[in-house]
Amino acid sequence: MEIFETISQRRSIRLFKKEDIDESLILKIIQAGVWAPSAGNLQSWELILVKNPQSRQKLSEAAYMRDFIAKAPVVMVPCVNQRVSGAIYGNRGVELYSIQDVSCAVENMLLMAHALGIGTCWVGAFDEQEVRDLLKTPSYVRPVALVPMGYPDEKPYPPPRRDVDDFLHFEKY
Ligand SMILES: Cc1cc2nc3c(=O)[nH]c(=O)nc-3n(C[C@H](O)[C@H](O)[C@H](O)COP(=O)(O)O)c2cc1C
Repeated sequence: MEIFETISQRRSIRLFKKEDIDESLILKIIQAGVWAPSAGNLQSWELILVKNPQSRQKLSEAAYMRDFIAKAPVVMVPCVNQRVSGAIYGNRGVELYSIQDVSCAVENMLLMAHALGIGTCWVGAFDEQEVRDLLKTPSYVRPVALVPMGYPDEKPYPPPRRDVDDFLHFEKY
């Protein structure tokens, strides 16, 4: 797949086939995350893979009953490790760089998954404390998204995008 095609044709998928994803494909997807840029190359992320059906059900409840999370065979939970980025960059590392680091890695993984025929959806709306309790994350490890993954059972129409003219500014805002 040509890169712009991969980028523009990726869609958020919220309906998955039951079929499991081979571990080798999951590892390829994770490798795409590994090669993301990060502030000071600190790679201040952690990644939790959830396959257990009861845990997926609990994640879906933490996400206000979005049941496509429970129905995906794998749910990836990207987290920031605030200690890693904070140790070098202080508050800016904790509040900004670590979020940017993990976001770059997640986007790489969404694109790699799409290139391999696997659907994903970045879910940001969830009760953070419920997810933390379930996944036993230490205080400095913050889950930033739930990413259900599986073979797509839908082909969503591309949602509209803003015109470039609407947000592009030259020289000054
Ligand atoms: C930070 C972030 C949070 C999101 N949170 C949710 C969410 O809670 N639930 C959901 O169904 N989709 C969520 N999405 C997916 C967006 O709805 C989706 O990316 C957007 O509508 C554009 O559609 P596309 O991904 O198919 O291009 C989120 C995406 C991002 C980047």
